[in-house]
Amino acid sequence: MSKWRISMARWLLRGAVRLPENGMGGRRPPAASDGHRPRHVAVIMDGNGRWAARRGLPRTSGHEAGLRALSSVLDGALEEGIEHLSLFCLSTENWNRPRAEIDALMRLAEDTFDSFGGYAERGVRFRWQGSEARLPSAVVDALREAEERTRRSRAMTVVFCFNHGGRDEIARTAADLARSAVTGRLDPDAIDESVFSRHLPLPELPDIDMLIRTSGEQRISNFMLWRAAYAEFFFVDTLWPDFTGDHLRDLVAAFALRKRRFGAVTGG
Ligand code: IPE
Ligand code: MG
Repeated sequence: MSKWRISMARWLLRGAVRLPENGMGGRRPPAASDGHRPRHVAVIMDGNGRWAARRGLPRTSGHEAGLRALSSVLDGALEEGIEHLSLFCLSTENWNRPRAEIDALMRLAEDTFDSFGGYAERGVRFRWQGSEARLPSAVVDALREAEERTRRSRAMTVVFCFNHGGRDEIARTAADLARSAVTGRLDPDAIDESVFSRHLPLPELPDIDMLIRTSGEQRISNFMLWRAAYAEFFFVDTLWPDFTGDHLRDLVAAFALRKRRFGAVTGG
């Protein structure tokens, strides 16, 4: 399809499912109607390094720009009425990066998690999903405090997947179940998918409906493997620091048009 036709299709798609800004500086109505809206949106935020390289800047500047992008995306998700937004901030594999980059990421993370308390008034509850292993205690404290300060907020849960790995999460859950079985608290024959789900960290977090990856890469990179089982994938070329709440709203509108079958057959 030509570029012109793609932009035309996007424009039409917007017209069909999206209402214009209300002009009063207030929140815009959601792009997707109830019942077509994803409950759980997860984002693999990729492309910070390339964003910086294109500007001749150090990779750390890309990570800073990536953090600045967060507020617009959180605003878009709130407008859209998303209940759960999971953000892949640091993977268990990212420790393979140069020490200086890891140190910079830890400093940025600590400042960011510290600064998000204000979102509590807007109904955002922060949760952390990931392993404590190797994390500086200041970062663990900042994560726990962000969780504590926003504990009572109910409009949207934002999950920081920080030092997260999908396989790590599954392995730790399996170990947890094995411990319960050994002590006789759990019958191994009773372990099925729903029992397993209930033992995952943050068991109240539903399966991912919509998984977005920025920067043109098309991989899952060990992200929330259990909950991504039936996610709809959206790969976009935009680098994470350039991604905005409006991009998110456009993708939510596109999600509303997808037909989900969960392995079954639908007519037509
Ligand atoms: C994502 O951007 C941020 C983190 C993984 C912390 P990258 O740092 O992976 O950016 P690229 O892929 O090198 O452009
Ligand atoms: Mg990357």
